[in-house]
Amino acid sequence: MTEVGIDKIGFFTPNFYLDMNDLAEDRNEDPNKYLIGIGQNKQSVIPSSQDAVAMAANAASKIIDETNRNKIDLIIFGTESGVDNSKSAAIYLQNLLNLNKNARAFEIKQACYGATAGLQMAKEYIKSHPDKKALVIGSDIARYGLKTAGEVTQGGGAIAMLISSNPNIMSISDDSAFHSEDIMDFWRPLKNNVALVDGHYSNDIYEQFFMKTIHDYSDKFNYDLNNLKAITFHLPYTKMGLKALHKILPEFSQTKQNELLTEFESSRVYNKEVGNLYTGSLYLSLLSLIDNSKNLKPGDQVGIFSYGSGAQGEFYIGTLKDGFKDLKRSNSNLKLIEERTRLNVDEYEKVFLDGDLPDGNFEITPNKKARFNFIGVKDLKRQYK
Ligand code: CAA
Repeated sequence: MTEVGIDKIGFFTPNFYLDMNDLAEDRNEDPNKYLIGIGQNKQSVIPSSQDAVAMAANAASKIIDETNRNKIDLIIFGTESGVDNSKSAAIYLQNLLNLNKNARAFEIKQACYGATAGLQMAKEYIKSHPDKKALVIGSDIARYGLKTAGEVTQGGGAIAMLISSNPNIMSISDDSAFHSEDIMDFWRPLKNNVALVDGHYSNDIYEQFFMKTIHDYSDKFNYDLNNLKAITFHLPYTKMGLKALHKILPEFSQTKQNELLTEFESSRVYNKEVGNLYTGSLYLSLLSLIDNSKNLKPGDQVGIFSYGSGAQGEFYIGTLKDGFKDLKRSNSNLKLIEERTRLNVDEYEKVFLDGDLPDGNFEITPNKKARFNFIGVKDLKRQYK
């Protein structure tokens, strides 16, 4: 049977960040609540020129080249920060990147689960069309509002994944365990540009869905969880994944527990610095694991837990392929994160408030550090450059 999975991954986050020490001081909180209790050091601050489409184009342009451009005939854009109630972000992206027009291009929404839904659909498509490739995007801006409990868990960015047969980085298991239920833990009513969240409830449901789907996977497919070298999680804030990991640890030997905890630390290095990407968070964590783990090798199996509030959970297995080491060597993700500019709290608040876009036509100054920008609305049509 042909192996299908992630052939390339591209990551983008804008070039500004807020330090959680600065936020804690301004909000009169103990910094350790943010740094340890929440598990976040910094968060990317997203200028209005970087909407979900622009960030996706900046991420995907890193993995599209002349060898794959014309083979991509499926473009799936997972986002909950959509730019239009009708037209999909995938069509804007297709145009910006000059992708094949003989393609299916559409957007998927189920909170932070969208990219996993796209990945699984793409896997099924490539299985029956092994000479083709699919582009799957997770791109979002996590906005909760100034001085809210969720403020410390904001962030943003995009992940772009090229899905192919005989993938370079990671193959994806044929089987997968999933669970969905009507849960009001996080939602964003139409016309709201900040999310509403019942944070503690969300945390409880996330842990329940993790335990259910990992056990379902092991029971239904007779899979020994001791084969896992690491488990990666959707990480809205990194303590959330750690708390879920602690739920399953007692089922393992002490040696295995230590191994999983060590790999978890590698898997949250980037997420601690960038904050929440919603749809992209799980795959940023996978990138972080690949780039930062000192132990993983080709053939190792990684458990992957995806969660989207509302709620949908899914657990599947990825097997690392030889090419994951090339990705590790490139060092480009760390560079992108380290080269951001620090904003003080006043500057961050100004950028945040600029995110409340006016109605009608307007112009936005492009961010010179980004290759693709949203530059405003003209004749009631979004403009990109
Ligand atoms: N030193 C160390 N730790 C400290 C501390 C200190 N000085 N002070 C507090 N802490 C710890 C607390 O003990 C607590 O730890 P535990 O969780 O282990 O108990 C932690 O810091 C947080 O403290 P609180 O629970 O008191 O914090 P809070 O009431 O302000 O809420 C939060 C925290 C619930 C995470 C809140 O920030 C929030 O609602 N964030 C948004 C929630 C979120 O992102 N949910 C994800 C949904 S999934 C998703 O991504 C959405 C999707 O699908 C689209």
